[in-house]
Amino acid sequence: MCRLISVGLLFLLSCASMNPAQAGDLSYPGVGRTATAREIEVWNIDVRPDFKGLPKGSGTVLQGQQVWDAKCASCHGTFGELTQMSAPIVGGTTAEDVRTGRVAALSNPNTVLRSAIMKVPTLSTLWDYLYRAMPWNAPKSLSVDESYAVTAYILNLAEIVPEDFSLSDENIKAIQDRMPNRHGMTRDHGLATVRGRPDVSDTDCMKDCASKVTVRATISEDALHSHGDLSLQNRSFGPVRGLTAVKKQ
Ligand code: HEC
Repeated sequence: MCRLISVGLLFLLSCASMNPAQAGDLSYPGVGRTATAREIEVWNIDVRPDFKGLPKGSGTVLQGQQVWDAKCASCHGTFGELTQMSAPIVGGTTAEDVRTGRVAALSNPNTVLRSAIMKVPTLSTLWDYLYRAMPWNAPKSLSVDESYAVTAYILNLAEIVPEDFSLSDENIKAIQDRMPNRHGMTRDHGLATVRGRPDVSDTDCMKDCASKVTVRATISEDALHSHGDLSLQNRSFGPVRGLTAVKKQ
């Protein structure tokens, strides 16, 4: 026997006789329910490095150019070159990188700008990210085929596939073997600079540990200031006010 109760703007379905399996979390009896298969399906969109989870579909470089010009270029530039919104999308890779699978410029300490295609080792990550998170102002709005197309377009801009190419679930594995940084995945570097200390390869101290916490890894000045004054971009309520990050002149 279920009743719909309203608490402010929330409507709760209260089911007095719901059995525990249906009720989900037993610490809140009667609240919530097990998600349906369809509900899980629409959220479960991750594509793994072995392409598990990749939906069937395809898109050509030319179709991708249309998607790009309509939905991406305003923020990332016609050729993915703009830096205001994110790192450039393409640039900084060579035919030799495509051959070796390691982007040489990443090992050069003088490389300041690192484009998305220089860094990303797995094509699945690029596909997944676009399908999930782009365009930034309308995430999850690209169709499966649009995601293939715009990925193909980016690959063409990066000179990984020719302009008459069509990317699909059937040939994507072969293109993975042409990703310029496919052998370059490493966690042995800092967050904001390749010379920095890795944040993810420490070991837990188990005895005689320091009693005071010292901050040893910090974000670089450049990265800190690259998005303007963060305090103006944070909400004005809640415990976290945001950092005042304006470059000192
Ligand atoms: C309204 C502006 C906007 C639009 C439109 C937009 N993006 Fe983005 N994009 C961003 C921002 C901002 C980021 C960085 C997000 C972050 O770091 O969390 C980003 C990040 C990216 C990245 C990752 C860059 C990196 O190195 O981390 C890719 C790839 C990308 N966008 C592709 C696209 C594609 C493809 C489209 C069109 C379908 C698109 N974007 C549309 C603003 C935009």
